[in-house]
Amino acid sequence: MSSFAGDLLPGESGGEHDSYARRRIRGSELARRGTRKQLVFARLKQSQFIVGLAKALRGLNRDLRVLVWLAKRNVGIAAYLKAHRVKKLQLGTSNNILDGWLNTDVVPNHGSVVYLDATRRFPFDDDTFDYIMSEHMIEHVEYQAAQIMLRECARVLKPGGRLRFATPDLQVLLALHSGEKTDAQKHYIDWAVERFLPGVQKCRGVFVINNFFRSWGHCFLYDQETLHHALHTSEFREIKFYKPGASDDPKPQEPTAGSYKPRTLINSRPS
Ligand SMILES: C[S@@+](CC[C@H](N)C(=O)[O-])C[C@H]1O[C@@H](n2cnc3c(N)ncnc32)[C@H](O)[C@@H]1O
Repeated sequence: MSSFAGDLLPGESGGEHDSYARRRIRGSELARRGTRKQLVFARLKQSQFIVGLAKALRGLNRDLRVLVWLAKRNVGIAAYLKAHRVKKLQLGTSNNILDGWLNTDVVPNHGSVVYLDATRRFPFDDDTFDYIMSEHMIEHVEYQAAQIMLRECARVLKPGGRLRFATPDLQVLLALHSGEKTDAQKHYIDWAVERFLPGVQKCRGVFVINNFFRSWGHCFLYDQETLHHALHTSEFREIKFYKPGASDDPKPQEPTAGSYKPRTLINSRPS
């Protein structure tokens, strides 16, 4: 007998195979084939040895891919630095590949993206870049790891170089819990429930907030004060916060914020 509740048919357990039960058995044959497969997987998952082996193979696969990315990256970095007078580094690129930038990510999805784990020492000399930018990445690493990243940013930025990070604002998120909601807040909750939390009808703001903390690999969410502190303790001094897409940089090199509409900041390394 299957251990899945859905596999238990009337009469199966007592041996009384009445015609109703037989019809149900025939009718559910296809579904049962599917559940047998699931059952085999479920049994395999119960074996610590199999689970350990699968994890080890997955880890090995990842390690091998990292080795390949590491072997390729010096060539990509050297070619970029040679070809560009104004040097611009993007961290956590994913698919947001920008012309004229050295696009990097801990999981490079495209041939032109260079492997770089932003929570480790960057493979660049001091004072290399004019600009560094990152959108929707800092909230994906733990606070202490982000501190390493920010210090590395400070190290590889030229004096007077600029760092621009875009990240969701914790204060904006928590305000979704307020009693009286603005039209924009209602709209966001409607959108988030429809997209990520179908079926949620009550206490929707609370579900949206919880989902935001736990989904998409989020590790640590910042409000302005916390981000300011994190930057200040990483040597940055001239710290400013901007609305999405806004900038007081007269030079056109910086990208506009993407469709996430995050809060953004620009931040200069002291000259
Ligand atoms: C939500 S995506 C944002 C992608 C892109 N910046 C955008 O706005 O569309 C977060 C990206 O950060 C990358 N990431 C996470 N941890 C990282 C790390 N330690 N170093 C570099 N990239 C990292 C992920 O691989 C992922 O591509």
